[in-house]
Amino acid sequence: MNVLVTGGMGYIGSHTCIQMIDAGMNPVILDNLYNSKNTVLERIEKVSGVKPTFIEGDVRNKSLVVDVLKAHNIDAVIHFAGLKAVGESVQKPLEYYDNNVNGTLVLVDAMRDCDVKTLVFSSSATVYGDPASVPITEDFPTSATNPYGRSKLMVEECLTDFQKANPDWSITLLRYFNPVGSHPTGELGEDPQGIPNNLMPFVSQVAVGRREFLSVFGHDYPTKDGTGVRDYIHVMDLSDGHVAALQKVGSKQGLHVYNLGTGNGYSVLDMVKAFEAASGKEVPYQLVDRRPGDIAECWADPAKATKELGWQAIRTLEEMTADTWRWQSKNPQGYPES
Ligand code: NAD
Ligand code: UFG
Repeated sequence: MNVLVTGGMGYIGSHTCIQMIDAGMNPVILDNLYNSKNTVLERIEKVSGVKPTFIEGDVRNKSLVVDVLKAHNIDAVIHFAGLKAVGESVQKPLEYYDNNVNGTLVLVDAMRDCDVKTLVFSSSATVYGDPASVPITEDFPTSATNPYGRSKLMVEECLTDFQKANPDWSITLLRYFNPVGSHPTGELGEDPQGIPNNLMPFVSQVAVGRREFLSVFGHDYPTKDGTGVRDYIHVMDLSDGHVAALQKVGSKQGLHVYNLGTGNGYSVLDMVKAFEAASGKEVPYQLVDRRPGDIAECWADPAKATKELGWQAIRTLEEMTADTWRWQSKNPQGYPES
């Protein structure tokens, strides 16, 4: 199976390429390197023994996408490429709608021209907004509170309409909860540019000495210790979810929607404690005000993915934190420049 992986040099895409290779698939990467480095490709090769084909380019360039789909005899597409920082999306909404919404429309248009009718899309638990209750099932109402979330919701709606009009397509929307961790070798991991927005990269940069302390955003939420609760999922489990989606519903016509989460909720302080245990490092923190736009708690009911994809998150909190630390301690400054 030849699979075009847009954004395949990024955090989730690179790990997914490794699991695809392991499953006997042939990933072909298209990435403009806006948020990733060339050296990721060598790491994929080091870990998997295979160097995937890499095309440096933009998913919004239709003629390029058409050329790639044809030249590599592509059977299916996993679409990771896009921008993902919630705060930045408030400052730069046009860039977010252009990359995330327009980028997807151009990609689907190119796929249609080339008769490639299988698409897996990276969506997010952000489409559930502030859920009325937990755990969250796929039929919960959707909403958005910022341009990033709205771009994901818009793409979900565009793809739903498109699939209705083109019932012979297989379109899968995967709603990720909170991806953390890294490849167990520590060769690949999350490498944010600048100050990390997300919890675990920040925690690991504190542990490695790049930052002084963690600010814990909010300690008065109605949760067990007052800090926010999330469904952290190991990036390797998330990657396996993409392989399962391609294998189980990739050839089934229809619109398929799945939560990819563990079903467990951990607080910020749980994560700090687990990370300290895994790394043997102290993570100093300060309790500060809530971050605007954050919700108290959010975790998945992953039963639908288990039933229909035969997939389940199996990696523990200890593995999530130990693997994060292995990556961070082996690569304190992230990936090297090429
Ligand atoms: P990432 O930034 O590490 O990877 C995205 C990749 O896409 C990068 O390598 C970037 O260079 C590339 N890219 C961006 N715009 C492009 C364009 N126009 N053309 C070609 N390449 C382009 O992000 P990630 O964490 O791996 O996330 C992958 C996908 O999953 C994104 O769509 C993101 O919105 C979604 N997602 C991520 C999370 C998370 O917490 N990491 C949660 C839910 C959903
Ligand atoms: N947090 C801190 N300090 C930090 C960073 C985060 O206390 O420096 C807290 C947050 O307040 C929250 C928890 O850690 O309680 C997790 O925050 P993240 O920023 O890591 O993750 P979010 O749940 O806010 O958002 C993530 C992705 C979004 C995605 C959403 C739902 O960043 O893109 O999950 O999938 F939309």
